[in-house]
Amino acid sequence: DASDIEKGTYPYYMLKEIDEQPLVIRRLIEKYRNEQGELAIDENIVQAVKEADRLYIVACGTSYHAGLVGKQLIENWAKIPVEVHIASEFSYNMPLLSEKPLFIYISQSGETADSRAVLVRTKELGHKSLTITNVPGSTLSREADYTLLLHAGPEIAVASTKAYTAQIAVLAMLAAVAAKAKGMALDVDVTKELGIVANAMETLCDAKHEMEQIAREYLATTRNCFFIGRAVDYYVVLEGALKLKEISYIQAEGFAGGELKHGTIALIENGTPVIALATQEHVNLSIRGNVKEVVARGANPCMISMKGLDMEDDRFVIPAVHPMLTPLASVVPLQLIAYYAALHRGCDVDKPRNLAKSVTVE
Ligand code: G6P
Repeated sequence: DASDIEKGTYPYYMLKEIDEQPLVIRRLIEKYRNEQGELAIDENIVQAVKEADRLYIVACGTSYHAGLVGKQLIENWAKIPVEVHIASEFSYNMPLLSEKPLFIYISQSGETADSRAVLVRTKELGHKSLTITNVPGSTLSREADYTLLLHAGPEIAVASTKAYTAQIAVLAMLAAVAAKAKGMALDVDVTKELGIVANAMETLCDAKHEMEQIAREYLATTRNCFFIGRAVDYYVVLEGALKLKEISYIQAEGFAGGELKHGTIALIENGTPVIALATQEHVNLSIRGNVKEVVARGANPCMISMKGLDMEDDRFVIPAVHPMLTPLASVVPLQLIAYYAALHRGCDVDKPRNLAKSVTVE
């Protein structure tokens, strides 16, 4: 659809694609639903997942970060062990495989050479594969046994946004359907919860002014920036840091809150921005403890918490969503902060230096 790939009134594709996220989630709810309104995924795929003794997610970049969140979802809901691997590492340092592995390739483009190299290898070994991609007919889709589509529409900006959230949403639906297929009683109505997520995303997309303020206040001139989170927030801060690096060229790193003190805290100076996420009740106090540790060393903290877990002085509070689905909401402010930081620093948001949308060489 040609209208899908026009910027319209948007200055950059990235901003347009961030704003499309609620729509993409709603579209996915429609696409993966049967006539009875229940979540539905191709029977063959569900069977392959159910039969596997372990899932191996293989991906690069942002898609790898979506895979980490997928592990959390699948292990919690479907109780199937999941390993997540960086494609370029897997090729040369293959882990010991289980007896009945299923390989899941996550790739927006479906063309990433590093991921394809692993697919070729695992096919040679006779293992089944599923590709989760935005591009029907792409190489990884054609070469795998099964495909699940992201239905996110063309993603033009080099920095991936809507494909990441679509990947997580598809993985959440797969986890829920697999749980049901295994006869487990899942007390989550995933379709309903994703609808709540879409509404929350809309609210977050409306917070552009606040995110611009944060970018201006914390990131206008800084040389570096740290992101911290615990549990699933850790996976999201890895993505938040990657977004910031990719488009603003600020040296940004995501860390597990508790790991900072084991080395990286040495880098904290007066005024170093530390963006923290707190969306998980069981680690709410401990991540706040980590923020205190960096503040004591002079850091400039920016706490982004979820409604219900918020405390005085938090910089921004995101609407409450299901605790397993928080990455879909919490990543939006991080995407917007990266966007505005890049904008303020005069960077080409859609076409960052040294990067390509899809890397077709190993
Ligand atoms: C490139 C892009 C990244 C992307 C990665 C994986 O490096 O610049 O934004 O996350 O490839 O791409 P894929 O299409 O496989 O998801």
